[in-house]
Amino acid sequence: MTKKILILPGDGIGPEIVAEARKVLEKVNEQLSLGLVLTEALVGGAAIDATGLPLPEDTLTAAREADAILLGAVGGPQWDTNPDFQIRPEKGLLGIRAQLGLFGNLRPAILYPQLAHASTLKPEVVSGLDILIVRELTGGIYFGQPRGYRTKENGVREGYNTYVYDENEIRRIGRVAFEAARARNKKLCSVDKANVLEVTVLWREVMNELAVDYPDVELSHMYVDNAAMQLVRAPKQFDVVVTGNMFGDILSDAAAMLTGSIGMLPSASLDANNKGMYEPCHGSAPDIAGQGIANPLATILSAAMMLRYSLDSAAAADKIEAAVSQVLDQSLRTADIISEGMTRVSTSEMGDAVVAALS
Ligand code: NAD
Ligand code: IPM
Ligand code: MN
Repeated sequence: MTKKILILPGDGIGPEIVAEARKVLEKVNEQLSLGLVLTEALVGGAAIDATGLPLPEDTLTAAREADAILLGAVGGPQWDTNPDFQIRPEKGLLGIRAQLGLFGNLRPAILYPQLAHASTLKPEVVSGLDILIVRELTGGIYFGQPRGYRTKENGVREGYNTYVYDENEIRRIGRVAFEAARARNKKLCSVDKANVLEVTVLWREVMNELAVDYPDVELSHMYVDNAAMQLVRAPKQFDVVVTGNMFGDILSDAAAMLTGSIGMLPSASLDANNKGMYEPCHGSAPDIAGQGIANPLATILSAAMMLRYSLDSAAAADKIEAAVSQVLDQSLRTADIISEGMTRVSTSEMGDAVVAALS
């Protein structure tokens, strides 16, 4: 049986890192006869340049028809000044998330022991780190209405967005998080701003209601400002963190740095049936695009998550994760995770090393 994988390289370093993940997927496909069929389509700025739209109809159709999607990254300064917000690269990504109902975003921050010294934090603070951020991905302030940008009658400009969740949206992401915690160390921390925002008063209430169904999971609550501080102070106190769309975006970038580099953090964005899109947590890194120095490991690890969650190929996922660990054992490092005594490699050399480690 074949499985259709849609690859969306996107912009900036997107095509560079996705090319390496593709090599890895092709290798495990051949080794384990997975029946993967890989196709590519345009999204983001690349799609705007080619078609005028960040999410062309063809791409959306291909995304719906695929068994899983692997995305590089979208965005770049050349599209940032477009006054029409609908024609921004980021709308392509947000559009797929919304159209496919990919509300459950899993962002695991795991420190490979080999990278304990690549973190900007002390090794004892981060060693053994293994936390999971569960981010709501299709609601909250990213999608709330009304939203807009206008000039008022008095000539003063204003921008506005609406932070809204209904209880069903909170409950379904809450369940994802409780289930994940149940399968791990049974600790769930819900992050909100319930001291200021009514929407997160509801968030906290719903999490407390859900906790009744998960007596084996220890639920705690934390305000987002404290959570940001605690993540840097003592990150190992966390097991699973569940939070809304924007807080999750911010906290996961902070968590990424605990693992040594944002170039190490993969993600899965899932619907209720575990169909999903997989992408590194980082962006298109325009500052290093085209130089062949980006770290492809977050994308390669995202491909592993794809095999595990959407393609029922845990063995292939394990194999890729072991290969990444082996490459780190060989002291190979891209520029973002380099430290003394290590060998610096390019994006494609890193991809090749992972492929070689699979053999
Ligand atoms: P970014 O994540 O692209 O880059 C932040 C910093 O991290 C940069 O210094 C970059 O060089 C570095 N970095 C990121 N990925 C790296 C990698 N794999 N290897 C080595 N270094 C890496 O964030 P930004 O600069 O705020 O955003 C740039 C563009 O990316 C924007 O247009 C933004 O909207 C977009 N973006 C897209 C996604 C996505 O597609 N999922 C995510 C975040 C940002
Ligand atoms: C991410 C990105 C996106 C987000 C942007 C590019 C829309 O930062 O995937 O973390 O904010 O969700
Ligand atoms: Mn982000």
